[in-house]
Amino acid sequence: MPISLKQLPGPKGYPIVGNIPVIDLPNLHNQIEQWADEFGDVYRLNLGYTSQTIVTRPSIIQKILAARPNEFVRLTKMNNIIREGGVDGVFNAEGEKWRLHRKIVAQGLDVKHQKEFYEPMLVILERLHNKWSKDAESGEPFDIQRDLLRFTVDITATLAFGIEMNTLEQEGSAIQDHMEKVFPMIFYRINQPIQWHKVFKRKADKEFDAAVREMNKLVDEFISKGQQKLKDTPSLRENPSNLLESILIAADEEGTFSLEEVRGNLLTLLMAGEDTTAHTLSWLMYLLTIHTEAQEGLREEADKILGDDPWLSDYSANNSLKYTEAVALESMRFKPVAPVMLFQATQDMEIEEFTIRKGQKILTQWRSAALKNEYFSQAESFKPERWLKESKCPVHNTEAFTPFGSGPRYCPGRNLAILEVRMVLSMLFKNFEIEMVTEHEDINEIMAFTMMAGDYKVRLRKRV
Ligand code: HEM
Repeated sequence: MPISLKQLPGPKGYPIVGNIPVIDLPNLHNQIEQWADEFGDVYRLNLGYTSQTIVTRPSIIQKILAARPNEFVRLTKMNNIIREGGVDGVFNAEGEKWRLHRKIVAQGLDVKHQKEFYEPMLVILERLHNKWSKDAESGEPFDIQRDLLRFTVDITATLAFGIEMNTLEQEGSAIQDHMEKVFPMIFYRINQPIQWHKVFKRKADKEFDAAVREMNKLVDEFISKGQQKLKDTPSLRENPSNLLESILIAADEEGTFSLEEVRGNLLTLLMAGEDTTAHTLSWLMYLLTIHTEAQEGLREEADKILGDDPWLSDYSANNSLKYTEAVALESMRFKPVAPVMLFQATQDMEIEEFTIRKGQKILTQWRSAALKNEYFSQAESFKPERWLKESKCPVHNTEAFTPFGSGPRYCPGRNLAILEVRMVLSMLFKNFEIEMVTEHEDINEIMAFTMMAGDYKVRLRKRV
């Protein structure tokens, strides 16, 4: 007899408000893991007026991810809140609209474009190197997370929009200061039973609105530049050189993209490309300053593959940075920036022993399984070697590892993100030694749509 989701166990709640008072949003992903240990890999949270099914079992997560866009959509409330925040793009589109957005976005981020835009991407890497050389010379502790956020935005703008932003060398505040207000507010609103900001705007709501306005202003500048370029070089219509041009061309065809959707996709890419990759790099710095033995492997590989170059100047060599990629994957197993995803069923169905009803809200969290011996040998140990072809780890079940999602909506920026990680780590370990200045214990996981590291400082030294 299939189990109805209403019959699931879960933490005991208060009358009327259920589990709402005990939910600690910045720590939600950890609470979910702890409850999974207590109630099993499929359980229920009582949110007073509604309920949420929590799934940490990898086989079910995979089935949900694969059944999109037809049987599951992203949580409708989340899609609407993102849209209301001015972002109407591939991430929160569904059905036919999603198919159209996805095709254009995925093409614009593919390997062909990465190769073509590698030279301008190297200019950005060199700027990062120059900044870090100065930091190493001064010997002062500094905020490396700021540099990583600026690096990733500059890379996305170059690759996807053909636009040089150079926020890395910009003094004072930059677009990132606005961007960092957007994800936390979206996450907060998704988790609020009542959308109070529609009635009364707090200071944080006003700051969010101002941030969205600033980002739209920037994106409108991109759009005018792209439109001008298409006018000046009509041959680009046959063979667009970047994602911005592809979207603008599609928008000219009736019934495809509205101007709001053009804006929405540019904002989506700026946001999706910045936060995720920068925080992944930030967690790498955190873990590598704990597991210093892995630094040795990175140095050896950088020396071997880069030779006399201070950074990875030959694009084709990036695939040879196997250990570097293994370190990145292992880091994502411990510190995934997107461990939680939210879905809604569009029809009644059965998955494994459960009956799912149309409209059912489901939250998936995959790290809970990825840190268990059932899925990865010595799961609690940081072992980058497990990701190498020659690994001898007997248990290695990648079904439990979905840092980039899976199925038809898996992250189209995956290859770009891995390339950025290879570029930054190989440059860092070829040239510098890194030391964490902040105590590791003082650096918390903070869930704010992406799971980021709290503020910290590092010190660099030139390698001798
Ligand atoms: C380490 C870095 C990154 C991580 C961990 C990450 C993770 C994810 C995850 C988990 C999803 C949801 C996948 C799903 O629903 O199955 C996603 C979607 C997406 N990501 Fe990434 N991402 C990263 C970097 C990037 C970059 C660099 C870009 C582009 C510049 C990007 C663009 C997107 C887009 C457009 C989507 C929506 C895809 C869709 O709904 O069809 N991501 N990403």
